[in-house]
Amino acid sequence: MLDFVPLSKPMTQNVITVNGDAWGDEGKGKVLCFLAQWADLIVRSTGGNNAGHTVVYSGIKYPLHLVPTGIVRGTATCVMAPGMLVDLNVLWDEIKFLRKNGIEVSPKNLKISDRITVILPYNILKDEWEEKVKGDGSIGTTKRGIGPTVEDKAARIAVRMIDLQKNTFENRIEEIFRTVPYDIIRENPNIQQECIDYCKKYAELIDPFICNTQVILNEACEAGKIILFEGAQSFSLSLDHGYYPYCSSTNPDASGTLSAACIGPLHAKYCIGVFKAYTSRVGNGCFPTELNDDVGNLIREMGHEYGTTTGRPRRCGWLDLVQLKYVAQANSQNCLAINHLDTIGQIGLQHGEIRVCTSYLSASQLQEISYVPTDLTDVRVLSYQYKSFPGWRIPDGCQTYQDLPKEARDYIEFIENFVGVPIAFIGIGPNDEDMIVRGTFLHQ
Ligand code: GDP
Ligand code: IMO
Ligand code: MG
Repeated sequence: MLDFVPLSKPMTQNVITVNGDAWGDEGKGKVLCFLAQWADLIVRSTGGNNAGHTVVYSGIKYPLHLVPTGIVRGTATCVMAPGMLVDLNVLWDEIKFLRKNGIEVSPKNLKISDRITVILPYNILKDEWEEKVKGDGSIGTTKRGIGPTVEDKAARIAVRMIDLQKNTFENRIEEIFRTVPYDIIRENPNIQQECIDYCKKYAELIDPFICNTQVILNEACEAGKIILFEGAQSFSLSLDHGYYPYCSSTNPDASGTLSAACIGPLHAKYCIGVFKAYTSRVGNGCFPTELNDDVGNLIREMGHEYGTTTGRPRRCGWLDLVQLKYVAQANSQNCLAINHLDTIGQIGLQHGEIRVCTSYLSASQLQEISYVPTDLTDVRVLSYQYKSFPGWRIPDGCQTYQDLPKEARDYIEFIENFVGVPIAFIGIGPNDEDMIVRGTFLHQ
């Protein structure tokens, strides 16, 4: 242990991150919305409307893509931080949808960073075009323009929220269009003007929400406010740490989420990893525990595994503990949340067993691999070892851990012993209150 005794400032540690531990859609929105009852601020900082977070709050279903899901509680200030990529059409539709359902969305409770990158209509066309050009090697993106917008951002030509405020977007768009592939222009001759009109349309509408969110976050940290981070996408979709190239274009791990909002690492108190009791994935690329059979179909139907954003059927398979342990370590997760314990119990009853993957074996079967390999060709030649469990039914009125059937508790305890991180939150249904909490909240 390295000890260093300088004059140092005591830091408030009131930040909680909620991140997905697989390929997205673990139910991050649901866990976030549950925790939001204790939060002062809720921050989303990564991804765009490639995300789809469904929460069922007070009996109403909210499939949200951009605005932090905790807004439905109406108690916290919601922040959309610099790392986000925002489609203005989707943002405005979402604000209207929330208001229609009686949820307050105003500049008072929704703060949009002036540094956020704006997704332009041409970025969406480019996403479609890139996927087409890649042919068999396509990623299976959500076609929401995410990758091409990040390309512009990295090329330092993108339009940001501040350009809407300062009326500098037209010059930016002109610069962008010097490099737009000719195929796109030929098929969409008015696209440059469409991008300008789109920015003009929303500049005034969005303006009251745009601000420097850093000032708000710095003050909140200093004042010891409880700040909750809503992760989008998930570790295995991370550009740097996921299964490249079959990944997204941001870094949705716990530190990436903090850094995309520029919150220093010393403020984090809990890093919560969310996973499902099975695994799902949309888009292409490897999926070690995928079930291309009736059991996979059964999980999809019983878990309603169809994309919130694109409606695509999600690929389904068993829970992969090698992946979960690796991701929990990489994110310094000190707490886990499992969802769909109800669904997997039913699968167990109908199919006769539930399985979890406990190790990857090399092709020669001589070497056990306890990490997620970088090279996808390695993954294809691995075989997988499983442990089997019986199913269960969640009893009516189940509220505490002890109310769960023993089979379900054995499943939970096997996972937490394997991963070495306690499972504090257990989802037993899609509704906000379908959550079992182990431990106690101390709120001073
Ligand atoms: P996110 O992207 O991680 O927020 O997850 P999604 O919202 O895309 O997908 C999770 C889906 O599972 C949503 O339809 C949720 O309503 C649903 N869900 C979440 N937790 C549970 C649970 O414990 N049981 C059941 N049956 N459904 C759940
Ligand atoms: P949430 O926040 C599931 C996947 C896409 C594709 C890959 C790249 O709801 O968990 P992109 O459009 O980002 O360039 O697509 O990433 N993907 C997601 N899959 N949930 C998400 O978000 C996702 N966001 C991106 O399906 O495989
Ligand atoms: Mg989702």
